[in-house]
Amino acid sequence: MSKKHKDSLLFAAGVLGAFGAGLAVGRGITRSGATATGLPRASVLDTLALGLDVFAPLVAQGVIIRRPPMVALAEKLDLDRRAVERMQKLRDKYGSGPLMLPLPIRKQAVVLDPEHAQRVLDASPAPFSPASTEKRGALAHFEPKAVLLSEGGERAERRPFNEAVLDTAHPMHRMAAGFLPLIDEEAARILEAAREKGELDWEIWSQGWYRLIRRIVLGNGAAEDHELQALLQRLRGAANWSGFHPKMPAKRARFLARIQTYLERAEPGSLAGFMAQIPRSSTAAPEQQVPQWLFAYDAAVIASFRALALLDTYPEQLQRARDEIAQQAGTPQLPFLRATVLEALRLWPTTPMVLRQSRAESTWETGTMPPETGVMIHAPFFHRDDTRLPYADRFAPELWSEDWERAVKRDWPLIPFSDGPVICPGRHLVLFTSSSLLAAVLKGHTVRLNNRQLDPNKLPGSLDNYHLRFTVS
Ligand code: HEM
Repeated sequence: MSKKHKDSLLFAAGVLGAFGAGLAVGRGITRSGATATGLPRASVLDTLALGLDVFAPLVAQGVIIRRPPMVALAEKLDLDRRAVERMQKLRDKYGSGPLMLPLPIRKQAVVLDPEHAQRVLDASPAPFSPASTEKRGALAHFEPKAVLLSEGGERAERRPFNEAVLDTAHPMHRMAAGFLPLIDEEAARILEAAREKGELDWEIWSQGWYRLIRRIVLGNGAAEDHELQALLQRLRGAANWSGFHPKMPAKRARFLARIQTYLERAEPGSLAGFMAQIPRSSTAAPEQQVPQWLFAYDAAVIASFRALALLDTYPEQLQRARDEIAQQAGTPQLPFLRATVLEALRLWPTTPMVLRQSRAESTWETGTMPPETGVMIHAPFFHRDDTRLPYADRFAPELWSEDWERAVKRDWPLIPFSDGPVICPGRHLVLFTSSSLLAAVLKGHTVRLNNRQLDPNKLPGSLDNYHLRFTVS
């Protein structure tokens, strides 16, 4: 067994052990039915089942950086579908919630109702702060001053700074026309590497993407900066263990200093160059916002590879994509390809647990939630609930056909990018990048999944992106 496999299994065992131990301690204070606050309270058995079916697989697959062997295992055992089924059972048993878990070390609630999910997201960052304890423990390994961990006055500086550089207000980033040639070049490299190897695999796809991300964010000078990438991967590996892994201050300092060098260079045509024109105070801490961008782009690498698998599974939809590509001119918005990426994110969310921490007492129909309660919104439960959604297990790009900002505001939380005031400020940029890269790869090429087939009538609960392989001709 490889070290990676061992690490992953050990970690999964650790998570389960910790959860079980917590419950064992908690058993003495547990009672089913209502809590003092009136909110429903899960039984010990249901809490244990939630730990086994929902938390453990997510944590074991890696929250900050994925562990490929565990992602493969999750698909083999269809763990993500089991997680959704577990959430459905809890909803059927306990009603709308929020459901309190009898954990002794922490106040923790699980959201079961679509309207409650929206309420929590709309009331972020206060009183529902995104800077939850576990997120702080994890992200502080490489970006302690990131906006996601910021509250109050610091957030008030950092969020607008992020929005200004990422041009959140516009579906097309002001730099988009300049980014297109980079996207075309990297797509050509990817296709060339696939031709040489005889197939397009994860290695080729991710390496091409990472070069592109470094060029867009930091400039062409960073295209070959594999050391920066390695440092980030190492720090993210530690972050997967949250506060249980010792911090690596020297590595973090080296990583942030390297980013600072690129920001000072401010290469024209990159976000680093664009950022140089944006006024900010020292509180904005730009070098600590950039790691989030580099790391968050990873989700696009995963989602766009899965999008290729989706298009292969639905030939009519592939034709729609091809029609869109054939009609493109200038710097096109590619709404259908954007919807395809959004669907890959709905079906297999890359942020499956949207976490908040209530900073004040909150009132619900059934009771009150005390301050400092962790609140978990399980995105796959809302995205893939086959008892409520006719499109749960199929590719449904039509969901995103309106302006998607309005689409997610309908009565059901489809939240691949979260929602409310903390919604991902990079969503337009990342959808532009992903759809344009897909267009460049598909243009004039046939891309066929060659090592497996998906059932178009029932897409799998989990899809292991690391082992997808395509023939390109
Ligand atoms: C497919 C790719 C991406 C997905 C699925 C995604 C998803 C998300 C989600 C779900 C959140 C909210 C987390 C929470 O509520 O706790 C978030 C926050 C954030 N994302 Fe993204 N993201 C992606 C790519 C990007 C990119 C490329 C950037 C920047 C270039 C970016 C920048 C950010 C920032 C700065 C935040 C923090 C917002 C805040 O705290 O106010 N994301 N993202």
